Amino acid sequence: MTSNVKIAWKSVSKRFGEKIVLDGLDLEAHEGRSLVIIGGSGTGKSVMLKTALGLIAPDKGHVEIDGQRVHPGDPSGPGLAQIGMLFQSGALFDSLTVWENIAFKLIKAEGVKRSEARERAIEALGLVDLEAGVANREPRELSGGMLKRASLARAIVTRPAILFFDEPTTGLDPVTADVINRLIVRQVKSLGATAVTITHDMASMRMIAHEVAMIENGKIRWRGGLDGVDDCADPAVCAFVQGRSVDD
Ligand SMILES: Nc1ncnc2c1ncn2[C@@H]1O[C@H](COP(=O)(O)OP(=O)(O)O)[C@@H](O)[C@H]1O
Ligand SMILES: [Mg+2]
Repeated sequence: MTSNVKIAWKSVSKRFGEKIVLDGLDLEAHEGRSLVIIGGSGTGKSVMLKTALGLIAPDKGHVEIDGQRVHPGDPSGPGLAQIGMLFQSGALFDSLTVWENIAFKLIKAEGVKRSEARERAIEALGLVDLEAGVANREPRELSGGMLKRASLARAIVTRPAILFFDEPTTGLDPVTADVINRLIVRQVKSLGATAVTITHDMASMRMIAHEVAMIENGKIRWRGGLDGVDDCADPAVCAFVQGRSVDD
């Protein structure tokens, strides 16, 4: 691997009550590459992303972005500022129009004027193949697929160097999922972003991944290229990908 390390989880541990979720997890995501994380439900995949965002504080260890330590809860730190995130639920604020949702970070965090932010939101809608007319609609008026696109537009509108996708196709029909996967691949490429995607959708994994990492018992059990997945380089990865003994 010759590319630079963009994000590094360094011996990250996190427990909730008695439950050890992350147990000294080490992982690196490389600049401009797309890493897909797989693993059973409740194994700490979303928690992992939240430690990089600074939304969850590790009990031990830390996360570095560009060699800078992420300080949990610090909105000006290296995490939140340069990461665009597509949440599992895709949740948009119901009380705001689609363009206000997309422009939220531009206006609140970057101080962009409303008129300019609206233009940039409409531009971002175009990038996910939604027409400008959607801008003034309310989230509840959109279909599931359109909501996902709008959420993707929100993730990319700041042109972030890092994109996190947490189960971007969960709950979508296969055709809509395929559209979302294509849009993700297109945006990651055009931004040259470092992407980290959590998915249970093996078609998604195949479209999106340069590399795959599997989490198990709070650690990265295996990491490698798609060829390693196909060659069954690790029995647990193999079982997961083939849909055997998966706990969800
Ligand atoms: N804020 C929290 N408080 C308590 N428990 C949590 C919290 N966030 C996650 N957990 C627990 O941590 C475990 C891992 O969660 P998560 O990372 O969401 O799993 P997944 O791999 O499915 O994304 C789960 O058992 C979940 O209930
Ligand atoms: Mg999750």
